[in-house]
Amino acid sequence: MSNEKRLAGEAAIRYVEEGGIVGVGTGSTVAFFIDALADLKDRIQGAVSSSEQSTAQLKRLGIPVLDLNATGPLSIYVDGADECDPYKRLIKGGGAALTREKIIAAASAKFVCIIDSSKRVELLGKFPLPIEVIPMARSLVGREIVKRGGNPVWRDGVVTDNGNWVIDVHGWQIADPVALEKELNQIPGIVTVGLFAQRPADVVLIGDREM
Ligand code: 5RP
Repeated sequence: MSNEKRLAGEAAIRYVEEGGIVGVGTGSTVAFFIDALADLKDRIQGAVSSSEQSTAQLKRLGIPVLDLNATGPLSIYVDGADECDPYKRLIKGGGAALTREKIIAAASAKFVCIIDSSKRVELLGKFPLPIEVIPMARSLVGREIVKRGGNPVWRDGVVTDNGNWVIDVHGWQIADPVALEKELNQIPGIVTVGLFAQRPADVVLIGDREM
């Protein structure tokens, strides 16, 4: 699988525009993309990063890290996923970077998702759905999830880059990801739902093949 991750990370380079600014996700697949991006560092303005982890790698490789408030809209965002359905709707957040990832995806004209074949599913939900919550809302959100048939498990010990906590929801088979994303977004204390369905990927690369 790590060979497919590397192929996907390298293949995503073909979507990077000369002189542009690249939105960069988080995770082991994205790490291959950042390594490949370093070869182009003199031909891009820089990157907007979705996590402290990716920021550290970008800086280490000499790629300027820019503030999204200063760059405005981006032409491209490259990120991995934990699951991807046939409509390019995703579960993300396995690396707890879902909030900044969703912000950059929303700010980008094209979202290129890079995965290995184990991430391709018919129905989202086998991978527990990550939800970032304000710490004081953890039990409230947990009860709301139980009411909806999910089994919430607190990712104990993990604090996001935004100072929040993560709940992983087990046991949901997500037939309508857009409706569930909208519904969960209404619960007070939820910062970000790891469903990327209202704004799915535009291009999915499984290894170096486009889905
Ligand atoms: C981080 C993410 C990652 O994209 C997702 O977890 C996939 O990671 P990897 O490429 O290591 O399999 O959503 O929050």
